[in-house]
Amino acid sequence: MTKPVILTGLRANNDLHIGNYFGAMLPIIDMAKTRSADYQVNMFIPDLHSFTTPIDHDQLQGQIMNNAKLYAAAGLPLDNNNIHLYRQSYVPAHSELTWILDCFTGFGEMSRMTQFKDKSAKLGEDAYAKSMSAGDSNLVTTIVALEDSTKASSRVSLGLFNYPVLMAADILLYDARYVPVGDDQTQHLEFARDIAGRMNNRFGELFTVPESVKRQHEFFGKDQGLRIMDLVNPTKKMSKSDETGKGVIFLGDEPATAAKKIMSATTDDKALVKYDRAAQPGISNLLDILALLQAKPLREVQAKFEGLERYGDFKKIVATEMSRFLEDFQTRLAQVDSTTLITKLETSERTMNTQANATLLRTQQAVGLRPKA
Ligand code: TYM
Repeated sequence: MTKPVILTGLRANNDLHIGNYFGAMLPIIDMAKTRSADYQVNMFIPDLHSFTTPIDHDQLQGQIMNNAKLYAAAGLPLDNNNIHLYRQSYVPAHSELTWILDCFTGFGEMSRMTQFKDKSAKLGEDAYAKSMSAGDSNLVTTIVALEDSTKASSRVSLGLFNYPVLMAADILLYDARYVPVGDDQTQHLEFARDIAGRMNNRFGELFTVPESVKRQHEFFGKDQGLRIMDLVNPTKKMSKSDETGKGVIFLGDEPATAAKKIMSATTDDKALVKYDRAAQPGISNLLDILALLQAKPLREVQAKFEGLERYGDFKKIVATEMSRFLEDFQTRLAQVDSTTLITKLETSERTMNTQANATLLRTQQAVGLRPKA
């Protein structure tokens, strides 16, 4: 009997942060360590997703391999045959299924994806800001800046637009049931469920519909999807695209630098440690981070630290835990053996091609591209 599949991916750019780590990487690695006898675990590097927004292509190959190393350093057991680690572009069925699904996806449906709206707006804003900072602000420079931002918006790629369809293909090719992702990917996961249901209604049982987001949270023992917030602006999520880097802790940060970022995290003037996301978002975020670093339930951490009055003392505890975590992680990263890693990638990619091609053929037969068996 085939085992239910748990699957996730983290985009291959050199800048994974603690939000990515705790939101997606750790839940699946924990599963891989404890439940691999009952589940197939797919951990992949979505390299085709890495240039939906502009990147330096000379660096991509190195970043892909670095990403694979990060999974190993985070504890993915490479010697287990139920656990697969692979590069998306090495399994061409991902691109082929995307095209088929594209043709059953509405333009309006994709236009409503909030991540597309945010990222495409940001490309325009960045061009505007860059152009404005290049000269004195007067009417002419403002007009030039506006023109630059319009040009940048018109360069928003089709890849960014149909990225959720590629993500649905990533999931549906392997009949994945559980997909641990952070809160920001909920809409994309819902789309994967929608398109699977739509294709099944039209063509018969083609795809496994992934579990609802609520069922996924239950499976991973959480009340809701994780959202680690930016340290400087704790009302927005921690994100790779933050240019200053001050609000984000990257897995590659020097431990001392990360500790400094925690010490200067934005808090409030209430002078009382309390978990209240609305009224005290900065302190609540630090409590969330501490619970994750100590691998303890939030309740326990709340019970221990709520009521403290000196934020400096509390921050120092979080900062110490953070530098300890990074030191440990970076030591393990340096020890990852490249030869073992490449062998694992190649072995997984062979198995994944077989599984993905079976789903692709089923789909091609259903839509009439291949004769039915
Ligand atoms: P990506 O690379 O943007 O992010 C990787 C994972 O990290 C989670 N995440 C966060 N979790 C908590 N707090 C945050 N501040 C935070 N920021 C990011 C994301 O939710 C994500 O789970 N589209 C995906 C990659 C992908 C994928 C897939 C995932 C491609 N195909 C198929 C699952 C299944 C992405 O861009 O994630």
